[in-house]
Amino acid sequence: MQQTKLWINGQWESTSNTYNLTSPYTGDTIAHVAKASVQDVERAIEGAHEAFQTFKKTSAYERAEMLYRVVDIMRERREELANILVQEAAKPLKAALGEIDRTIATYQFSAEEAKRSHGETIPMDAAPGTQDRIGYTKRIPLGVVSAITPFNFPFNLVAHKLGPAFAVGNTVVLKPATQTPLSSIVMAEIFKEAKLPDGCLQIVTGSGGELSDTLVTHKHVKKVTFTGSGKVGLSIKEKVGLRKITLELGSNAALIVEPSTPIEQIIDRAVMGAFNFAGQVCISLQRIYVHESIAKRFTEQFVSATKKLVVGDPANSDTDVSAMIHTDEVARIKSWLDDAVSQGATIACGGEFTERTLSPTVMTNVTQQMRIVCEETFAPIVSIMPYSNLDEAIALVNDSDLGLNAGMYTNVLTDALRAAEEIEAGAVIINDIPTFRADHMPYGGVKNSGYGREGIKYAVEEMTDLKFITMKMSF
Ligand code: SIN
Repeated sequence: MQQTKLWINGQWESTSNTYNLTSPYTGDTIAHVAKASVQDVERAIEGAHEAFQTFKKTSAYERAEMLYRVVDIMRERREELANILVQEAAKPLKAALGEIDRTIATYQFSAEEAKRSHGETIPMDAAPGTQDRIGYTKRIPLGVVSAITPFNFPFNLVAHKLGPAFAVGNTVVLKPATQTPLSSIVMAEIFKEAKLPDGCLQIVTGSGGELSDTLVTHKHVKKVTFTGSGKVGLSIKEKVGLRKITLELGSNAALIVEPSTPIEQIIDRAVMGAFNFAGQVCISLQRIYVHESIAKRFTEQFVSATKKLVVGDPANSDTDVSAMIHTDEVARIKSWLDDAVSQGATIACGGEFTERTLSPTVMTNVTQQMRIVCEETFAPIVSIMPYSNLDEAIALVNDSDLGLNAGMYTNVLTDALRAAEEIEAGAVIINDIPTFRADHMPYGGVKNSGYGREGIKYAVEEMTDLKFITMKMSF
């Protein structure tokens, strides 16, 4: 049985307290995980602060080379890393392999960005009396970054924090999700092999408000980057004071399907968007607004494709949907589903529960007020709703406190561009599902879905200060 340790200043450290990590699919214990104390977190932050004093002076070339070595090692260990996701997150093997490939791309983009991050020259002579000066900007690393990451993409959402931070010379204290520490622990080994200097990456595992409070309020922490629930995001935002912060929170992602859509060509893609990793994705397709002229045909085909999904063991290469992350989450979503049904919603397919799973579920006859529509479900449930014209569809999409990605299918260019302007979301994805994400694109929400942007170039901007330098050419 694996017994994990904390990774502090380049050493593995045991703790007196541990917790049992269980497989979401079988319920069996798979590891005993070290539980950091507040003092451990403080030492980790202080060590990262000390490491920063040297790391900030490394060259872009050295940092890029280190990140390229991470890419090479991950490529070699691809299957082994995917299996960690199968074990700790019950992520089906094919999705797990997909996540490892994306993570490799994220570190590769970070290596490239290390060499690209630059300032600009300022035309100082544009203001009267300043013609004998030169001026330019530089991007300066901030120092210690606290990264708090979720269970749903344990490698790639960690990479979205470590990659850009290291690209520009920051150091990081990482607290991975309680359910998915093993992926971060193996990254400590990989970064060590890639010759990241000791202390630049510290990993503290465990849970509890005091740990998080230390991570977001310690005097040496200059930036907090968090992906997770809106509730926790808000409490972090209230505590960070003047520190920089990035929050990637949830959504109830919507898709508009206009009458010009060739339904047959998009059904499999839409089903994947709704049920990939059992819907436990911030941009999982949760609300589908379909034009009334094609709603019946769309729903029939969607239900038929959903019924073909394979539910089962995440280790099997043909499994599409496996266990949800925790039995509490299954119980929560059951109560939301029961509530919707009691208010008149129809289960078009799915709706079968075990202690650990919910079968892929398609709902119709729902209203905007039901929790399965207006809140983030983070579960394998999608609702299909008809609309009569595009204005109404856009209004329905916008009738939400959340706004991360939204999607729209149409072959009418002017409608696409109008919807792109009017939809309230961080990104509008035309002719694809809202679940689409490439790792270099700007990613982040409006309204209660977040604050700031990820996507390597954009994360680098948020993990650096802009410094202006000017010199007078004569005395
Ligand atoms: C998320 O769930 O926040 C990330 C989704 C993704 O990277 O595909």
